[in-house]
Amino acid sequence: MTLYAFVYSLHLLAALIWVGGMFFAWMILRPAAVSALDAPHRLRLWVAVFPRFFLWVWAAVLMLPVTGVGMLDLRFSGFDSAPRYVNIMMGLYLVMLALFLRIQVLQLPQLQRAVTAEDWPTGGAVLGRIRRLVGINLLIGLLVVAIAGARLSF
Ligand code: HEM
Repeated sequence: MTLYAFVYSLHLLAALIWVGGMFFAWMILRPAAVSALDAPHRLRLWVAVFPRFFLWVWAAVLMLPVTGVGMLDLRFSGFDSAPRYVNIMMGLYLVMLALFLRIQVLQLPQLQRAVTAEDWPTGGAVLGRIRRLVGINLLIGLLVVAIAGARLSF
């Protein structure tokens, strides 16, 4: 296995964990929790789910730029000669990072406080805002994978 192939695999695994995790949370766990649990249990479930998932998102958030820049050095000899789809990937990564940080730093602590205080209406409202941001990040992540996979240059 070449060094490039190794770094490339790490990059793909990081993208898979982040985007795949959001896909599972949004498309499977969210509707299942709505149909199986009442509001207090659902909010407690999400307070238990997010910190566990976010540990892996942090790993992906660090791994993607490190491996991405590594590949730029190994294959394209730096940023200047990078193809268009890699520039788009980097730009959309920054958007995904900003949305993730907003959830991690602002919204998750709000959700945790509401659940500790058993303030279910506030908790429901915060969860709704987190759901919207995760949905947007999921769409951007899927778009990045599609653009990268197709090596689009527009
Ligand atoms: C700073 C952030 C990033 C940098 C510098 C970066 C850079 C790169 C580079 C240089 C490649 C190899 C391109 C090639 O071999 O032609 C690549 C491939 C790829 N990247 Fe990224 N990337 C970043 C973020 C992301 C993110 C956030 C995702 C997905 C959520 C992602 C998904 C992919 C995928 C799926 C490929 C494989 C494309 C293919 O060869 O078919 N990357 N990236």
